[in-house]
Amino acid sequence: MKTSNNTVLITGGGTGIGFCIAEEFVKSGNEVIICGRREEKLKEAKEKLPDISTKVCDVSSAKDREELFRWVTTKFNGINVLVNNAGVQRMIDFKKGAAELAKHENEVEINLTAAIQLAAYFIPGLMQREEAAIVNISSGLAFIPLAIMPIYCATKAALHSFSISLRHQLKDTSVKVFEVIPPTVDTELDKGTRDLRNMTYRGIPPSEVAAAMLKSLAVDEYECLVGQAKNLMEASRANFAEQFGRMNH
Ligand SMILES: NC(=O)c1ccc[n+]([C@@H]2O[C@H](COP(=O)([O-])OP(=O)(O)OC[C@H]3O[C@@H](n4cnc5c(N)ncnc54)[C@H](OP(=O)(O)O)[C@@H]3O)[C@@H](O)[C@H]2O)c1
Repeated sequence: MKTSNNTVLITGGGTGIGFCIAEEFVKSGNEVIICGRREEKLKEAKEKLPDISTKVCDVSSAKDREELFRWVTTKFNGINVLVNNAGVQRMIDFKKGAAELAKHENEVEINLTAAIQLAAYFIPGLMQREEAAIVNISSGLAFIPLAIMPIYCATKAALHSFSISLRHQLKDTSVKVFEVIPPTVDTELDKGTRDLRNMTYRGIPPSEVAAAMLKSLAVDEYECLVGQAKNLMEASRANFAEQFGRMNH
């Protein structure tokens, strides 16, 4: 997959890994569009990367997703790279029942449905391009869950499976399907729950994930396992029970 002269849409591109991906794509000579819910974060991103375009959009809203698709199609004459990066991660204790679940953002809509729906919107247009890609950002937790964040891990496992099926469905088209599988990354994803868990390790910088992604894109490495994510994937196959126990004691 070429890594320059693309028109790239990155969901959740205002902060963290998404912002670093935007930065890498800009550096490599691509047109970049980012979206997110917080306008101030998009503005901060645009101050750092003046050439990018921004759009306020809540990808958990069906209306916003459709509006995003129409806006991108009209304003940019379409894209040839879609990066499904927007995500949230919540600790949810099912012993507390439905009220606890309702307190939180809808992780299924944000982490999974949005990626599926945006893929469905954009694929017909992507297929018209000489070269195109969908990049799904999943997680090492797709392979072995952390039980304290059950929905997050389930959405990432589903996104992994979806990426495999989509890649297979699109194998005879110009659309390549990549999955980027990060380990723990030092971002604000957890909204402070790492502190609650006394977790001192903050993870690798998000720039490392973005750099690894561009490298994988360049050589058509469809599963980009970053850092420790590779070990998690291998451990899930070699000895799932032991690794699950170690992570969830
Ligand atoms: N950090 C890690 O350890 C880690 C590990 C593996 C995988 N990942 C994955 O990497 C991706 C990026 O996360 P990150 O670590 O970079 O955290 P982050 O800095 O919190 O980035 C998440 C981005 O998603 C956006 N977002 C969240 N909900 C949204 C919604 N409903 N609509 C539109 N945008 C939304 C956020 O912006 P707004 O809040 O302004 O909308 C934010 O810019 C996620 O998919 C995450 O699961 C992260």
